[in-house]
Amino acid sequence: MSSVALASTADVENYLAAHENKGLLRFITCGSVDDGKSTLIGRLLYDSKLLYDDQIAALENDTKRHGTQGEKIDFALLVDGLAAEREQGITIDVAYRYFSTEKRKFIVADTPGHEQYTRNMATGASTADLAVILIDARKGVLTQTRRHSYIVSLLGIRQVVVAVNKMDLIDYSESTFRKIEFDYRDFAKPLGFESITVIPMSALEGDNVITKSAKTPWYDGAALLPYLETVKIHSDHAEKSFRLPVQWVNRASHDFRGFAGTVAGGTVRPGDDIVVLPSAKRSKVARIITHDGDLAEAGPDMAVTLTLDDEIDISRGDVICAARAPAEQTDQFAAHVLWMAEQKLFPGRQYLLKTANRIVSATVTELKHKVNVNTLEHMSGKTLELNEVGFCNFSLSHPVAFDSYKDNRRTGSFVLIDKRANATIGAGLIDFSLRRAQNVHWQDLDVNKTARASAKHQRPCVLWFTGLSGSGKSTVANLVEKRLHDMGRHTYTLDGDNVRHGLNKDLGFTDADRVENIRRVAETARLMADAGLIVCVSFISPFQSERRMARELMGEGEFIEVYISTPLEVCEKRDIKGLYAKARRGEIKNFTGIDSAYEPPQIAEIDIDTSDIPAPDAADRIVEYLKGNGYLEG
Ligand code: ADX
Repeated sequence: MSSVALASTADVENYLAAHENKGLLRFITCGSVDDGKSTLIGRLLYDSKLLYDDQIAALENDTKRHGTQGEKIDFALLVDGLAAEREQGITIDVAYRYFSTEKRKFIVADTPGHEQYTRNMATGASTADLAVILIDARKGVLTQTRRHSYIVSLLGIRQVVVAVNKMDLIDYSESTFRKIEFDYRDFAKPLGFESITVIPMSALEGDNVITKSAKTPWYDGAALLPYLETVKIHSDHAEKSFRLPVQWVNRASHDFRGFAGTVAGGTVRPGDDIVVLPSAKRSKVARIITHDGDLAEAGPDMAVTLTLDDEIDISRGDVICAARAPAEQTDQFAAHVLWMAEQKLFPGRQYLLKTANRIVSATVTELKHKVNVNTLEHMSGKTLELNEVGFCNFSLSHPVAFDSYKDNRRTGSFVLIDKRANATIGAGLIDFSLRRAQNVHWQDLDVNKTARASAKHQRPCVLWFTGLSGSGKSTVANLVEKRLHDMGRHTYTLDGDNVRHGLNKDLGFTDADRVENIRRVAETARLMADAGLIVCVSFISPFQSERRMARELMGEGEFIEVYISTPLEVCEKRDIKGLYAKARRGEIKNFTGIDSAYEPPQIAEIDIDTSDIPAPDAADRIVEYLKGNGYLEG
């Protein structure tokens, strides 16, 4: 018997390899420090003699110095040692502890219980087979119990142990225990757990942790450890359909092509029929190659290289699937999202979406509802905030192969990444593909952008004016259009104030509405450029993300960002529409520059401060830029 704190995934893999034959149970403990979570884990390890001698010595020593339990050993110190590590290293916010008994190996994910750490809990739960949810017997089912249970169910855990802890503090009262059990089962009904096992416990006293306690004669179930040793594990993904996301194409020699990756579900044997997504090409498995030679069968989590009977084109990011049950493919799906960032999620904003094997651009096209994780109620909302869960429709730049999360946790999940900061900001669980994605196709048109542009003898482009209200964007844009028009060019100007009277009448000035405002205008500008026009867009467009999105929507070299950098003081002094004065008096909320942010461009093609340069000269400069860069040839 042994216990080791494992630092890295590689350590975990090595340790597991050494104990190959025993079954493995991954579980997560949920509860706050006050519920006795650390004490429980400490007790599990200590009482079952799963600790090394030096760990025990250190613990006894720590207890003398810092313990809160008098002469008794303070088990919480054992686990809280990990917590301290965690606070220093921001990257480790889930502590994994490994231990094994005669019957089974265990990996326990211990996560901080505090509310803002919901995301850590989700991280721990995403690989767990079972959750141990702690309840303080004195307090019963609390809001946080509900929150933990919801997240655990959302993350696909189907087996729950409810540890009703601190029974010693309620004199091992059966009636109190029964009431808590009833409350929990009642609340958890809609969560669809396959099994809920409720155990009366005192982690501090050791009741029903390792062995059954004489103090709860009325309890006829098992103690926690024996239960965990024998509970049937549904986690092995072997019965799922075979999936191998290809991580690497191995061309060791000119006649060898192997497809390497980690099996993300199901099993595979030589001779099996497979289909490759997205190409939908079919073949049969020839060999399963590993470091230790060829295999007759490979299953979940195994790193393998497959060779196929036929020479078909497969690249990194493709998914090799069982031919009889392939993954789905779509560029639009509905998913639950757990938001993990301080900055809010905005429908319409572009994020990077990373599935098991591919990274694409994605936007939330609709936030269908938020889930109140405390009450399970659905609520409407326009954005998601830190630790909130929402059900969203997504639209992707390219199709991805996927399974529904309930069918396969690996091919059914994704993370969202902020494009600018390159940081993970959300986790998603795919529910289903949106059928409309399959029914809406691109229509090829005979007259295309090139044809339309050449009929107008011009090169289409988008001049995107950004800057504060009153900076002079619209004045300059208007002059530019006039000059181009006088030169016989075909133009159009999209102006914030005007578009907000029509197409965007329904939008206000919250961050979420501004994101949507710019998304629509960028799409409109794209259509206009596609029509062969030179388009002036004059919107405050305060956020870098959306301006970047607009840039990426247009063809190469078609997007010209014009930053009208007139300082706030000047704009406010001008106050042509009297809006700054109103904003200062608090009569307008979310006014850009006053109580709503403006993110200046980092690199704009043109930067003009109209407090230095009169508008006509500014317009000349822009027209010169167009001339100098070949936009007005032809
Ligand atoms: S954006 O931020 O979403 O790009 P947009 O350019 O469409 O803004 O609209 C800005 C114009 O709306 C301003 O020039 C001003 O006339 C008017 N306006 C009204 N309320 C606000 C506000 N709270 N913030 C900024 N502009 C406002």
